[in-house]
Amino acid sequence: MKNKYLAIFLSLFFLCSCNNVSKEVLYGDTNIIPKPLSIKSNEGHFIIDDKVKVSAASEEQLSIATDFFNQFEISSGWKPEVEIGNEGQIKFIENERLPIDGYKLKVNEEGIIIAASSYGGYVYALQSLKQLLHPSFNSKDLQKTFVWGVPFVNIEDAPAFGWRGYMLDVSRHFFSVDQVKDVLDMMVGLKMNRFHWHLTDDQGWRIEIKSYPKLTSVGAWRMDYKNTDESKSDWWGRPAQQLGEEPTYGGFYSQDEIREIVAYAKALNIEVIPEIEMPGHAQAAMAAYPELASVNANPYVATGGVAGNNTYNPGKEETFVFVEKVLEEVIELFPFEYVHIGGDECNKAQWKVDPHAQQRIKDEGLKDEYELQSYFIKRVEKILNERSRILIGWDEILEGGLAPNATVMSWRGEKGGIASAKAGHDVIMTPSKYCYLDLKQGHDDMEPNLGYSYSFLSDAYNYKVIPESLSEEEGTFIKGIQGNMWTESISDWSKFNYMNYPRVLAVAESAWTPESNKDWNEFTYRLDAYFEILDAQETRYAMSAYSPWVDHTGNGEGIEISMKTEVEDLEVYYTLDGSDPHMESSKYTQPFTISESAIISAQSFRNSKAVGYITRLPFPIHKARGLTSTVRGQEKLTDLSYAKLHISDKSWMKFVNDATIDLSFDEAKEISSISFNSLRYTISGVYPPHTVEVHGSKDGRNYFNLGSTEQIEIASEQGRNKINTKIEFDPTQIRSLRIVCKTFDELPVGHHKAGQAASMRIDEIVVE
Ligand code: ACM
Repeated sequence: MKNKYLAIFLSLFFLCSCNNVSKEVLYGDTNIIPKPLSIKSNEGHFIIDDKVKVSAASEEQLSIATDFFNQFEISSGWKPEVEIGNEGQIKFIENERLPIDGYKLKVNEEGIIIAASSYGGYVYALQSLKQLLHPSFNSKDLQKTFVWGVPFVNIEDAPAFGWRGYMLDVSRHFFSVDQVKDVLDMMVGLKMNRFHWHLTDDQGWRIEIKSYPKLTSVGAWRMDYKNTDESKSDWWGRPAQQLGEEPTYGGFYSQDEIREIVAYAKALNIEVIPEIEMPGHAQAAMAAYPELASVNANPYVATGGVAGNNTYNPGKEETFVFVEKVLEEVIELFPFEYVHIGGDECNKAQWKVDPHAQQRIKDEGLKDEYELQSYFIKRVEKILNERSRILIGWDEILEGGLAPNATVMSWRGEKGGIASAKAGHDVIMTPSKYCYLDLKQGHDDMEPNLGYSYSFLSDAYNYKVIPESLSEEEGTFIKGIQGNMWTESISDWSKFNYMNYPRVLAVAESAWTPESNKDWNEFTYRLDAYFEILDAQETRYAMSAYSPWVDHTGNGEGIEISMKTEVEDLEVYYTLDGSDPHMESSKYTQPFTISESAIISAQSFRNSKAVGYITRLPFPIHKARGLTSTVRGQEKLTDLSYAKLHISDKSWMKFVNDATIDLSFDEAKEISSISFNSLRYTISGVYPPHTVEVHGSKDGRNYFNLGSTEQIEIASEQGRNKINTKIEFDPTQIRSLRIVCKTFDELPVGHHKAGQAASMRIDEIVVE
């Protein structure tokens, strides 16, 4: 079973005497992603050498083929002649019976035949051909040492869904024109065809609008807190811009650049859907044109985090004049029939107190602010419909009544999508658990600190796009699926790639391959072929799904350890001393208990080869284990269950004031250090203690100081990560131990909970 799917790059030790030089023939894998409807492999391969010609039957085919072989030339150093005709060994033919975007690709001793009925069909046939070529095709280097072969195959292929989407958020972090083109190249390689461009949000307006120039001269720039440290995440707790500060991070696309990208996408069979967020998520626009805002608006472009008072004022007519003029320019730039207007997470607090908004509610006979939001969206829909455009919004546009012709993007689970389909509206499925490419894809303590929740590769893959609760007819309203790359945590291209791959491959396969043809285990073997492509491109990707997930439960005496991996058919080997595991190390078969301190290091192996990362976690079995502390009489602080980075981990002990933690031993013990982890999660006002003191006592009454530390700097920094505090002292005999952790009484200006006291999460008090 395993070997059947094992992706090996077949190299034939058959030598080809092209140009009088004997060279090896190399070719790629037939494990194509997304999986074709039908693929039959045959023994043998066709060689693309300098005798081969390419014939196209139309100018359109000629142009697609020319682009492809220009790309071929980068790694081969030469390219076959491409011309109109039918003499070539690589031949394009039109077959009107094939569905839109479908194709046939036949490779045998006579050559390669590509048949399709649509532009997309030819484009996708060549994307499959690309994966049949050796992965070096994807490198930027010239491959002089071998001859290009293509394995014999017979492929018949067509997509499951018409909307195979990918969203890129360029507001939270800005990405250049070239990077956007890289995203489009990635998309076409995976046969995705809808690029949803999230162009505006609280943290930056990124599209030039000629009638409102301040949208970009002001709205495209925020304070620069770009964080490249992957051990922590600071987005969710950054200080707001202050009076007199100069924002320097940002950028925007000129209208010419937008046209260039739309045309580039079109050549790749990709339509571009702009998203202009309204009525919420508009703080960048409000900073530029405060007269359009509701009361209590924030004056500056948001620096990060979740912006609060960020809504357009639906009570003012000038808001609708603005929206209409902006959308008119947007429509000019984006010829596709859809315009996305956001509509999500509109905070109604401002509208509740804004006199204009309240007047509008009265004048229009609306029930509440939800109906006011619906009133707003319906007016915007009218602007779009009058210009032959369809409105798309996030599923919040259902609240207060759905606009009559709207298409809904279901992101808060599937509920919004199901309700919309039942009401006869078109739906794009993009529930966060399966489709959000910015969420963590592995164990909290092992992943780089990106992403605030989870979306695992296997969940993304196994997602059923059409909800089971829909009837067959209702199911036809589900137009497809989309992967969303939000970029709060993603400040550079390396992070982008890490979060993107391999999950985007799972989403692409759910979009292209019918449910009945998907198989998680088989997909994980096909992934190997794609990893070779990413390696050739020198593109970073996550191996979290292959890496051991080490779980544990402490009981105050020992720790039970269990291990699992998302990808099946792996063997996990581990050591207890922190050294790298190999196949002579202990093999994991079932949960086991440790009763002495260990650093567990675990590694997955497949076919005797290490795959994924080493998971390495320390599990001290320390001198205070199992002691009941004075804190609510619990053992939680010494139970040997070590809290993970996530705030919802039940092992954290919560303190809302300064903490005094007393521990008493049954008999005198010599100790020389205490240490513990605390959580920094500043968006919720959770900070590490700023001062820690340790006192010892021989009799439980008279305490003497053992050591202390001030950590104001790390304790007052915003963001989310785990902080270890350790205090060491000369070995001392004690019966009782008192640890005093002081918290901030009042968080400084600029912090999320400025003026309030911080709370603490602490675990585990390790005494050595
Ligand atoms: C969203 O994630 N707020 C659509």
